[in-house]
Amino acid sequence: MARVDGNARDMTGISKVGVIGAGTMGAGIAQVAAQGGMDVVLIDTTDEFVQRGVSRIESGLRRLVDKGRIDANARDSVIARIAPGTDLELIAEVDLVVEAVIESFDAKAAVFRDVSDVVGSSTILATNTSSISITALAGTVPHPEQFVGMHFFNPVPVMKLVEVVRGLQTDDRTAAIVHDAATRLGKTPVTVADIPGFAANRILMPMINEAIFALSEGVASADDIDTVMTLGASHPMGPLALADLIGLDVCLHIMEVLHGDFGDSKYRPAPLLRQMVAAGRLGRKTGQGFHQYEDA
Ligand code: CAA
Repeated sequence: MARVDGNARDMTGISKVGVIGAGTMGAGIAQVAAQGGMDVVLIDTTDEFVQRGVSRIESGLRRLVDKGRIDANARDSVIARIAPGTDLELIAEVDLVVEAVIESFDAKAAVFRDVSDVVGSSTILATNTSSISITALAGTVPHPEQFVGMHFFNPVPVMKLVEVVRGLQTDDRTAAIVHDAATRLGKTPVTVADIPGFAANRILMPMINEAIFALSEGVASADDIDTVMTLGASHPMGPLALADLIGLDVCLHIMEVLHGDFGDSKYRPAPLLRQMVAAGRLGRKTGQGFHQYEDA
């Protein structure tokens, strides 16, 4: 993406993306970017983490081949568009960086510090954070006007939404380019303000938290609470099963951010949620959450 300085700014968009973090979200973002025709660099800190991300992408693509959605040639060209590695220098030429590392301000700020040393001055920096202030993270980079939130949803290849979160300093050009890039990935972007929880988690997480209160008060069993919401409200999965999918540690963290930042007791995390996390019952990733999973 050659950027033209001054008023004649280049809006041709993104052709090369660097994804930092090859976990569930990062691998999903790399997959949809490559499927959208973009060249992708997928970075993590160790060969093992990178390889795990590549395996996730391969199995996601296998799923599509098995269903006849794409053929083997298309799968191979998607894989060929992804350059995995551990060396941050690999992202030197990208137009857009999407960071998807652990949900910690310090970890993300450290990533963006290192990224800023490597990329060109016109590169757009995006974070997939679900709860951290975009404005605060933007304050750690040299060009906060080119910093934006790009919030994907799990499972990334399936979920259509991307929240494009504008920090206080995000400029119109950055928001427009990221909006366009999300559309090219087959997603529906929605622009939201940098207010805790953005839009989706501000609504979703209190619902999940309330379901956990209901469970602990004996309103109904976990299975029945989920059935109430799948059959009574047409949700694709119940709130407790969804909490298990997201990770109970992630749910607790987001509730703590909402509670702390708004200072409103309606966001207090359910004590049972804290207990589940303290017990290491984090949902699907540990094999046990509100439900049990065999394939963890
Ligand atoms: N990767 C890729 N594709 C997947 C997948 C995965 N991990 N899981 C399911 N799919 C695909 C399936 O292949 C299937 O595709 P087709 O319809 O094209 O055949 C489709 O999704 C439906 O899957 P299944 O039939 O196996 O199962 P399902 O109908 O129960 O759907 C689900 C599974 C997609 C997860 C669905 O239950 C759902 O949409 N649940 C809600 C998920 C949700 O709310 N996610 C957002 C969480 S919040 C978040 O991520 C943000 C945050 O900040 C915390």
